[in-house]
Amino acid sequence: MKKILLVVGARPNFMKIAPVYREIVKGNHFEPILIHTGQHYDDKMSKIFFDDLELPKPDFYLGVGSGSHAQQTAKVMIALEEVMIDKAPDVVVVVGDVNSTLAASVVASKLHIPIVHIEAGLRSFDRTMPEEINRLLTDSISDLLFITEESGRVNLRNEGVAEEKIHFVGNVMIDSLLYYKDKAATSTILSELKLVNKEYTLVTLHRPSNVDDHENFRKIIRVLAEIQTRIPVIFPIHPRTRKMIHTFGLDSRVEELSGLQLVDPVGYLDFLKLMMHAKLVLTDSGGIQEETTALSIPCLTLRENTERPVTIEIGTNKLVGADVDRIIQESLAILDGRGKSGNVPPLWDGKAAERIVQVLMQKFI
Ligand code: UD1
Ligand code: UDP
Repeated sequence: MKKILLVVGARPNFMKIAPVYREIVKGNHFEPILIHTGQHYDDKMSKIFFDDLELPKPDFYLGVGSGSHAQQTAKVMIALEEVMIDKAPDVVVVVGDVNSTLAASVVASKLHIPIVHIEAGLRSFDRTMPEEINRLLTDSISDLLFITEESGRVNLRNEGVAEEKIHFVGNVMIDSLLYYKDKAATSTILSELKLVNKEYTLVTLHRPSNVDDHENFRKIIRVLAEIQTRIPVIFPIHPRTRKMIHTFGLDSRVEELSGLQLVDPVGYLDFLKLMMHAKLVLTDSGGIQEETTALSIPCLTLRENTERPVTIEIGTNKLVGADVDRIIQESLAILDGRGKSGNVPPLWDGKAAERIVQVLMQKFI
C-alpha cells in the first residue's frame, strides 16, 4: 500500500488534517503516517485537539518546541529528514502556513518526494508576516496545490504555477467545523464562564505585529477596555500573547478591567461553541476569519490585510487594522445590530477532504 506522510505542528494544523486523515483511513488505499513536529506542545495547544478531533496518537512526535524561526525550522528539518529517509513515504502532505509546513516541504523536496499542500495560494502580500514567506516557499515547491478560494488560483497563476497542479476543493477547516458543530453545541463552556448567548464578545490575538509590538498591543488593550464597558469580553489567550503581557508589564492594566475575562486557550469544541454564540468576534487569526464566515458570525480582523479575501468579499469579516477609534466604532455598530451580513463561500460544504483524497487516489494509486 502507498505510504502517505501527514505533517502537523501547530494548533491550526490539527483541525485541517483531521478530516483528511479520516478520509484516508476510510478509503483504505494509503497507509497514513502521522507526524507531529511539536512546534506547539502545551496540552492546551496540542493534546486537547487530538482528543477533540479524535486523531490518533501521532506515529512520530519530534518534540522540536519553540525557538527563533531558523532554529525551529531547522530542528523540524533535521528530525523529519531522518523519518522520511527511514519511512520512504510515497507522498507528503502539509497544511497551512506555519514553520513546520515550510520545513517539511523543503525536506520532502530534497528527497524527491511529491508534496501536497492543502490551503495553498493564500497571499497577504505582506512579507513581514512569517506565514507569507512560508506560503510562498511551500507553494513554489509543491506538486499538488489544493486551494480554498478562487483568489488562490489567481495568485498561483501569477507566480507561474502550472494550472494542472491547482485544485479548488473547498476548505478542510470548514469540514471539521461542520463535522463537529453538533457535538460542540453540547459543550458547557458558556455556563462555566458565566456567559450568555449573544451577550459577549470573543477575542483572540497572537500575531507578532499586534502582540510583540508594544505600541500596537497597548492600543488593542485600549480597545478592549472600552468594549468591556459595553459587553462582557472573553479572551482565551495564546501563550505568545500571555508572555508579551508580562514582558510589557501590562498584567495589572488587564486585571483591572472587570468586564474582560482572560482564560487559557480552550479546546476545539469549546471554542466552536464560543464562536457560535458570540455577538462579535475580534481576532487576528487566519482560521477564525474563515470559521466566523462559515458560521455567519460578525468578525472584525485586527490586521491591515488578509490572505483570505473571500471572507471580506462575501463573508461576515471586516478588516479594521490597528486604529483604536475605527475598531471601537465598528464594534459598536455590530453590538447595535448593524453588522455586515454574509454568505458562505463556494465549496465550503464539508466535503473538501473527500475531494482531496479523490485527487490523491487519481495521482498516486
Ligand atoms: C504559530 C505560527 C502562526 C500560527 C500560530 C497558531 C509560525 C511562524 N507561526 O505562531 O502562523 O498562526 O502558530 O497558533 O509558524 N508557546 C508556548 N507553548 C506552546 C507553543 C508556543 O508557550 O505550546 C509560546 C512560546 O513562548 C513560543 C511562542 O509561544 O516562543 C510562539 O510560538 P511559535 O510556535 O513560535 O509561534 P506562534 O506565535 O504560536
Ligand atoms: N482555536 C481553539 N481554541 C482557542 C483559539 C482558537 O480551538 O482558544 C481554534 C480555532 O477555532 C481555529 C484554530 O484554533 O480552528 C485557529 O488557530 P490559530 O488562531 O491559533 O491560528 P491561525 O489560524 O491564525 O494560523
